[in-house]
Amino acid sequence: MATLPSISFNEQFEASTVHVYEVDLLFGEDDLAELLKLLDDRELAQAKRFATPALKRKYVASHGNVRLALARYLDTFPSDIRFVEGPHGKPQIDPGHATEIRFNLSHSGEKCLIAVTTGTEVGIDVEQIRKLDDWQAISQRFFSEREAARLDALPQELVQLAFFATWSRKESYIKALGLGLALDLGAFEVEVDPRKEAHLVWAQDTSEGPPHWSMRDISVGPGYRAAVALRDRRCNIVMIEAELTASLGG
Ligand SMILES: CC(C)(COP(=O)(O)OP(=O)(O)OC[C@H]1O[C@@H](n2cnc3c(N)ncnc32)[C@H](O)[C@@H]1OP(=O)(O)O)[C@@H](O)C(=O)NCCC(=O)NCCS
Repeated sequence: MATLPSISFNEQFEASTVHVYEVDLLFGEDDLAELLKLLDDRELAQAKRFATPALKRKYVASHGNVRLALARYLDTFPSDIRFVEGPHGKPQIDPGHATEIRFNLSHSGEKCLIAVTTGTEVGIDVEQIRKLDDWQAISQRFFSEREAARLDALPQELVQLAFFATWSRKESYIKALGLGLALDLGAFEVEVDPRKEAHLVWAQDTSEGPPHWSMRDISVGPGYRAAVALRDRRCNIVMIEAELTASLGG
């Protein structure tokens, strides 16, 4: 079995660095069968629950690739990695691995992004850009009043991009905090203009406000919008060009 070189975060993981893996989820049957072998009982049970083969394929491919990516940092076999969930369901590496490595996963359409860092919380979100007839209603429901108003004021041709930029930026912060829907979506604001750099503008909880956070857009090609949030005032994004499944047997 060919293996990817492992990554030692002491040597190669500078502080404030996020490694981002971009994975296309359209795997063939052989790769999928190998990826399935990496999952634990809980993941296998979850995979069985999906209503369609396409959803199951995306789940197996994403979770298998997360294991392949994390194994590089943990110096262990992908199938031996154990996970625990935070209070609102954020997956974390089991403390038994005695590691400072943190990660987050996002999938949309046929794209999966995996963010890996050390010592602080990270969140990632990718959104497939799609047609929205009711963007005003959605932004009023999910964005703060000021974000919705700023979105409304943008030139019409920018609105769709701005909507998904705002969504992915907000979601990256929610996912870094691990709070999911427990966080009031009006209690923090991000930059809504897709032409401007992603950043956290304001947070009601000042201990989680802009001085403590970085936010970056991630370029993943046409049709998608993605962002990363890191609880660190500095952030260096490194896109890792590795075909993770190259290390699979078969
Ligand atoms: C998981 C959650 C945080 C994000 O879901 P999502 O955007 O639909 O999906 P993504 O693909 O980006 O992320 C899913 C992955 O995040 C991880 N995840 C699950 N719960 C999480 C949490 N509380 N925090 C961070 N990550 C979480 C898991 O790895 C999950 O993968 P899985 O579903 O294959 O197990 C969702 O529970 C949620 O609460 N979203 C808020 C929705 C919302 O109203 N957003 C408004 C944005 S403005």
